[in-house]
Amino acid sequence: MKKIRVNLEKKSYYIYVGYPLEKIGTKIIDRNIGNKVVILSDENVYPIYGKTVKQSIEKTDKIVQEIIVSPGEKEKNFKTVIDIIKDLVNFNINRDDLILNLGGGVISDIGGFVASIYMRGIKYVNVPTTLLAQVDASIGGKTGINMEEGKNLVGTFYQPYFVYIDFNTLSSLPYSEIKQGISEIIKYGVIKNKKIFEKLEKTDLEQIKNEYEFLISECVKIKVEVIEKDEREEKGLREILNFGHTLGHGIEISDIKNFSHGDAVCLGMIGESYISYKIGLGEKEIYQRIKELGKKFKLLSYFDKIECEKIIKFLQHDKKIKKGKLRFVLPKRIGKVKVGVELDENEVLKILKEIKKNEKN
Ligand SMILES: NC(=O)c1ccc[n+]([C@@H]2O[C@H](COP(=O)([O-])OP(=O)(O)OC[C@H]3O[C@@H](n4cnc5c(N)ncnc54)[C@H](O)[C@@H]3O)[C@@H](O)[C@H]2O)c1
Ligand SMILES: [Zn+2]
Repeated sequence: MKKIRVNLEKKSYYIYVGYPLEKIGTKIIDRNIGNKVVILSDENVYPIYGKTVKQSIEKTDKIVQEIIVSPGEKEKNFKTVIDIIKDLVNFNINRDDLILNLGGGVISDIGGFVASIYMRGIKYVNVPTTLLAQVDASIGGKTGINMEEGKNLVGTFYQPYFVYIDFNTLSSLPYSEIKQGISEIIKYGVIKNKKIFEKLEKTDLEQIKNEYEFLISECVKIKVEVIEKDEREEKGLREILNFGHTLGHGIEISDIKNFSHGDAVCLGMIGESYISYKIGLGEKEIYQRIKELGKKFKLLSYFDKIECEKIIKFLQHDKKIKKGKLRFVLPKRIGKVKVGVELDENEVLKILKEIKKNEKN
């Protein structure tokens, strides 16, 4: 169990890492919240963990209500937000009360957004139940929903009251979802902490659950450190978290087969570390080691299905290419990156094609 503080002056809060769900009520009483708690969850998560959370909170004499939405990214829209707000009104929820987001990143993004606008802002707690949400989405106070015009197009910066992480919730998560989190954990290792990376290298896929405590708490610490320095992405310091995500984003949006975010980011990290090698910034070994990790954890690690021209075209369209230049976070070695490296789109295209060609040999 680790209690990690996020220092943001009046908005400071704790992230409880490795705490049991059965005890969550004790944290709510500690903090003297209004007499109602609304659990926001989805149809996959609530039947497994809802009762435990509800009973724990009810022990504190609070009234617990539930709002359960369908699972999945498609729920991250204005209609869901409005439906939730109507339920809050019906439940008579006021500004002292609390929303508790129990689920993955979709739930914390929607619930955090609702909490930030309902009555001009009410308290919320994140209880992330996916590996991706435990190391990334539930931390940092970014909330958002999608529009047809763009993913996460509408949102706010609004910090939670606390975050409560129980690794045991990951036992019911399918591996296809676990690996979404592993991709981000690889990223944290490369940008800031080689111990994370080496731990992944030493751990078999079947053993990964034994390392959750170390991996999750170390990743949380990195994200917290970045957020404390640049909460609202105004100083460019949060850019470091984009390693693998420039190319990854291009791969994700240009692909018709719908690569998952984790797969796209893994390919993005492989591509970007190769770029780093080609421009003389990092050793080729970094590229090889990331590729090996990707393979071991069943993430996509081959460029064979990638259409390089298409990625560049989509990135241009998405305004990620400005004046023919793309901006990257590139590794110098495992644990250290260079931020804001600008490269010509044609140079990038040439390097991507080279990766593909190498794979054929
Ligand atoms: N706000 C941020 O800073 C931030 C950062 C990264 C990602 N995100 C957002 O997070 C979302 C992705 O989050 P995600 O990967 O957690 O997806 P998700 O919330 O859709 O969860 C994935 C699936 O797993 C199910 N699930 C969740 N927990 C489970 C459990 N313990 N056992 C069994 N099934 C479970 C869910 O019902 C869902 O079907 C995206 O919308 C992304 O934009 C936000
Ligand atoms: Zn990501």
